[in-house]
Amino acid sequence: MDAAPLPSPADLRGRTVMVTGANAGIGYWCAEQLAARGARVLLGCRSPQRAETAVSAIRSRVPDADLRVQVLDLGSLGSIALAAAEVRERIDAVICNAGVKAADRSARTSDGFDLMVGTNFLGHFALVAQLEPLLAPNARVVAVGSIAHRFAHLDAATLDAPWSGSSLRQYGRSKASLMAFAFELARRWSASSRAAVCAHPGYAVDPLTPPRRGLAEVSGFVRALSAPTRALVQGKDGGALPIVHAATAADVVDGDYWGPGGLLEFRGAPARVTASDEVRSAAIGAQLWATAERLTGVRFPA
Ligand SMILES: NC(=O)c1ccc[n+]([C@@H]2O[C@H](COP(=O)([O-])OP(=O)(O)OC[C@H]3O[C@@H](n4cnc5c(N)ncnc54)[C@H](OP(=O)(O)O)[C@@H]3O)[C@@H](O)[C@H]2O)c1
Repeated sequence: MDAAPLPSPADLRGRTVMVTGANAGIGYWCAEQLAARGARVLLGCRSPQRAETAVSAIRSRVPDADLRVQVLDLGSLGSIALAAAEVRERIDAVICNAGVKAADRSARTSDGFDLMVGTNFLGHFALVAQLEPLLAPNARVVAVGSIAHRFAHLDAATLDAPWSGSSLRQYGRSKASLMAFAFELARRWSASSRAAVCAHPGYAVDPLTPPRRGLAEVSGFVRALSAPTRALVQGKDGGALPIVHAATAADVVDGDYWGPGGLLEFRGAPARVTASDEVRSAAIGAQLWATAERLTGVRFPA
C-alpha cells in the first residue's frame, strides 16, 4: 500500500512553508507532499530526534527535498519566541497543524495554560504573531481545525479556566478557538493580499496510512483488520490533502474552510466545507484575540 501519486511535481519550487508538528501524522504528510512538489519545508517540531526521523523518511521518497528542522514547542512561549527569532526565511505559508488531545484535566503547558487550549490555540497564536514580519505579501496561514469544532461552545472569559465534561469537548473548544482565530485574522487581513483560512483532515487514522520508516508503526494484522474502514475514513496522507490544498491551491480565498468532500466530511477529495457560526462570529473572534494577547503577552505587529 502506498500514497496516491503526487500531482504537479515541482510546482511549489521557490516557496517556503512552515508545518508545525511535522514529525508525525498529518503534519508529516503535509511536509512530504509539499517537499515532493518542490517547496522548502520548515518542520516545526519539539523533538529534534523525531524531526530527523521524519526528514529521513521524506528524503527516502524525495531525495532532493529542501527541508529544515526548526525546534518549536508550542507548549512553551519561550520556545515559540526563540523559534520565531531563528527563522530567517521569507515564509509563504504557515500550517498550524500540531495538536494534542489530553484526557487529564490537570495537564498544563510549561506556561501553565490548559494543555489543549495552550498548545492547539495559544501556541499557534503566539507563533503566527511573531512570524508575521517574515510572511510574504501573499502568504497564507492555515489553521488545522476539526469536525469537533461544531460541538464546541466558545467563551473567551473562560478560555483557560479548568474544564469539566469530556476531554473531547475541551479538545473541540481548543480547535474551535484556533479556527476562530484564523477567521478573525482573515477579517483583519481583508485589505491585504494575505489569506488566513481553516482546513480539516476529516477522520484520518494510522492503520490506513502508508508506512514510513520510524513513523507510527502499524502491524500488518492491524492494517488488514482496518482495511474495510477505508470505505468510511482515510489515512493521514489523505487527511493532509485538504490542508495542503488550503495552503497552496489557486482557488482558495481569505476566510475559506476546506475539508474532505465525502460522506460526513470523513474522507474524500478537498472541498469547501461549512464552519459553525460561532467560529465565524466577528464578536467571538475579537474577544478570543484580546484574550490570547492578554494570556500570552504577545501582540501582532500594528
Ligand atoms: N487524525 C484526525 O482524524 C484528525 C481529525 C481532526 C483534526 N485533526 C488535527 O490534525 C492535527 C494532526 O493530527 P494527527 O492525527 O496527525 O495527530 P498526531 O499523529 O498525534 O500528531 C500530532 C503532532 O503534533 C505535534 N505536537 C503535539 N504537541 C506539540 C507541541 N507542544 N509542540 C510541537 N508539536 C507538538 C506532535 O509532536 P510529538 O511527536 O512531539 O508529540 C505531532 O507531530 C491536529 O491538530 C489534530 O487536532 C486530526
